[in-house]
Amino acid sequence: MRPPPPAVVRAVQGLSAALERAAAALKPAQARFLEVSGGVAAVALMRAAVKTRLVEPLAAGRKTAQQVAAELGLHADTVHRVLRGLAVYGLVRLDAGGRFTLTRTGRLLLEDSPHSMTGWIRYVTSDAVLAGWLRLPETLADGKPAFNEATGTTLWEHMASHPDEEAGFARTMHELTLLAAPLIVAAYPWPEHGTVCDVGGGIGSMLAEVLRARPTLDGVLVDQAGPLAVSRDYLAARGVGERVRAVQGDLFEGFEARADLYLLKDVLHDWDDDQCRQILRNVRAAAAPGARVLVLEWLQEPNVAAFPVSVSDLMMLAQTEGRQRSAAEHQALGAAAGFEPGRVTDTGVYGVVELVAV
Ligand SMILES: C[S@@+](CC[C@H](N)C(=O)[O-])C[C@H]1O[C@@H](n2cnc3c(N)ncnc32)[C@H](O)[C@@H]1O
Repeated sequence: MRPPPPAVVRAVQGLSAALERAAAALKPAQARFLEVSGGVAAVALMRAAVKTRLVEPLAAGRKTAQQVAAELGLHADTVHRVLRGLAVYGLVRLDAGGRFTLTRTGRLLLEDSPHSMTGWIRYVTSDAVLAGWLRLPETLADGKPAFNEATGTTLWEHMASHPDEEAGFARTMHELTLLAAPLIVAAYPWPEHGTVCDVGGGIGSMLAEVLRARPTLDGVLVDQAGPLAVSRDYLAARGVGERVRAVQGDLFEGFEARADLYLLKDVLHDWDDDQCRQILRNVRAAAAPGARVLVLEWLQEPNVAAFPVSVSDLMMLAQTEGRQRSAAEHQALGAAAGFEPGRVTDTGVYGVVELVAV
């Protein structure tokens, strides 16, 4: 299916934000306040649903809580109350006969649905990620990375020493990347020939979609051992395994990967400005003059509050040393590492900020 053009995506986002603002303005302040603070319940319910696979029995159709509880060996009254809570947030529908039906949003809670987002829920509600959020008051005072201070380790060190969470995180990024990939692939004039290198490319979700769209391109995937181990089967399943060379490399120590085009998708937002300059210098060292880098990020203008980019920026604050940046900020980082600015494309979701090696 062809993705909608960026102008349509932006128009839908603008209209939906305006309608949400109008709906909020209709309510008394206290009611709206309680609604916003109720978000904690929504996240807790989604976490419980994923952990217990609560909605799996509903994949086959409408059921009562008693039927769901019997299938899963759970407590029927609690199942009813939790599913009713999920109905408040639009993940299931409850009819007058006490039967629950999955909505299209609720289907994302199914483990094996094509666009499952269970990895995302597991990740954002993991103990380590929550520890970062809970450290936010102290970070407001000292500006130190919340996750690192709360856990005594960086997110990436934590992942490397918790292989289950590392695999879960790779799945999370994969889920998010698959959502955006069609828009990104449609938005950029990819070359027909040459090599594309995805730096910090995870299991290769983005690279695979680019290679599928351009059957005569080759790929290089640079990441750490954990994601690369998962990438082999994934790239083979997407039919591009033969065209991708995997390079275990470190963003900060440099890597050998000569390519015409480098992708940095959701990588720079994990790091502070000095670290980003180092990463870009290492990409520049690997690249020939004229090679291009595509920074693929949600773009955050300093004085624009918008969903999802401003929330993603806070996630970076709570989990990493990074932030979401504007196109101009990415271009300034690139200039310090030997790149001049190229075109900037807004896909309506992700920005594509092109940097050209000089
Ligand atoms: C937020 S994920 C983005 C993954 C992928 N680009 C995507 O958008 O689906 C960041 C990636 O950077 C990788 N990474 C983190 N630190 C790294 C390092 N020091 N060297 C190489 N890769 C690293 C992680 O393993 C992870 O795959």
